[in-house]
Amino acid sequence: MALLMLAGCTNNNKENSTETATSDMVSFDEVLATRRSVRSYDATKTISEAEVRELLLATQEAPSWANQQPSKYYVAMSPEKVEAVSNLVGERNKQNIAGAPVLIVSTYEKGKSGFFRGEQTNEVGDGWGAYDNGLSNAYFILKARAKGFDTLIMGMRDSDALRTLFNIPENEAIMAVISLGYRSSEPRQPEHRPLEEVVEFF
Ligand SMILES: Cc1cc2nc3c(=O)[nH]c(=O)nc-3n(C[C@H](O)[C@H](O)[C@H](O)COP(=O)(O)O)c2cc1C
Repeated sequence: MALLMLAGCTNNNKENSTETATSDMVSFDEVLATRRSVRSYDATKTISEAEVRELLLATQEAPSWANQQPSKYYVAMSPEKVEAVSNLVGERNKQNIAGAPVLIVSTYEKGKSGFFRGEQTNEVGDGWGAYDNGLSNAYFILKARAKGFDTLIMGMRDSDALRTLFNIPENEAIMAVISLGYRSSEPRQPEHRPLEEVVEFF
């Protein structure tokens, strides 16, 4: 089974990765099981740009339509920008992400995934761009968890104001805002629908 690092995002861990392989690594299943939408963050902990870059590199491993890679990311790390973005996700979300040191806006370039030579390939159209963006974001949040971070994907956001704030071009569809930080309390476990309800085997 593939093993991933959890709860260790310091350079020390990287340097000692061989020596600490058994003690610091958890299974991919553990990453899946402990990744939750986190709505309370430890404001005393910071995250470096290098750490964020490492998570964003993981998004580039995600599959995309004809390798179009339509996803783009706008990263707020300065206190001013983080504050500005947190004001654009609604009051409830704003409260829930207080203390998260990084907020990231994900977008996709329209007219790429789902298109061939400018022609829409099937009925889904730009929906494939949204699909690819969701895949990239999934890689991001799982990589984040593997490195000991926590995230919250937010679909409630003011896209017009975000477009202005980051000068996002009109050919990009603005999707989620993702908070990145460290949990300050254990998130609740959501209920999951039974497989029988959502899967049919033939
Ligand atoms: C596209 C999308 C939009 C979401 N928007 C919000 C949001 O605005 N606020 C929020 O608190 N949670 C939001 N969530 C988180 C979901 O509520 C959460 O994923 C779901 O309840 C399952 O919980 P879990 O992530 O802990 O497994 C969103 C999740 C997705 C995938």
